[in-house]
Amino acid sequence: MSNVVVLDHPLIQHKLTMLRKKETGSKDFRELVREISTLMAYEVSRDMELQDIEIETPMGKTIGKEVSGKKVGIVPILRAGLGMVDGFLSLIPAAKVGHIGLYRDPETLNPVEYYCKLPMDVEERTLYLLDPMLATGGSLNASIDYLKRAGAKNIKAVCILAAPEGIKAVQDEHPDVDIYLTSIDEKLNDDAYIVPGLGDAGDRLFGTK
Ligand code: PRP
Ligand code: URA
Repeated sequence: MSNVVVLDHPLIQHKLTMLRKKETGSKDFRELVREISTLMAYEVSRDMELQDIEIETPMGKTIGKEVSGKKVGIVPILRAGLGMVDGFLSLIPAAKVGHIGLYRDPETLNPVEYYCKLPMDVEERTLYLLDPMLATGGSLNASIDYLKRAGAKNIKAVCILAAPEGIKAVQDEHPDVDIYLTSIDEKLNDDAYIVPGLGDAGDRLFGTK
């Protein structure tokens, strides 16, 4: 069974509360998603491998550490995942960025794919799959299916909020994928929105409602 990690750093939790508030406008919402994503990137990359490297400071030679091991890919699920990309790139600037375009059909709730483009060498990379909202899990499961069909072997899902129903759906289908969150909320409502949640993440990010 995959790990579900709730990141409880006080700064993350404080910013999450600001994000949830209905009076937070698009500009502040975007900034908060970027800041939370930066803090999440710091936490989810804790297991990166390091290697020794000899360097010279102005005072002489020493052995430093540098990141080694697998290269990184960042894959936002459009649209709302786009809001998390800059936060990740600010800490991992050498990462390649793929995109998965999906929207949730409002009637059936099933994910509908409309665009996908990935780095060539996904099988060699640790992939951070970004989407602020994990509701029914349909979008995340379809995205993980797609990444695996493309050859991905090491996927970590990074979501800001999740409903218990969505976590279970992803764990049932993809027990090898760890899920990083800032909160597990109470439930889904009848329209499959997360409660208490933060509303529609894509619309709040881009001001489309
Ligand atoms: C939202 C969200 C997730 C999905 C979660 O996207 O960003 O991708 O819903 O729901 P699920 O877990 O039930 O699949 P939406 O379909 O609203 O598209 P958007 O990001 O383009 O607004
Ligand atoms: N998508 C969102 O943007 N918000 C939810 O609560 C559920 C799905």
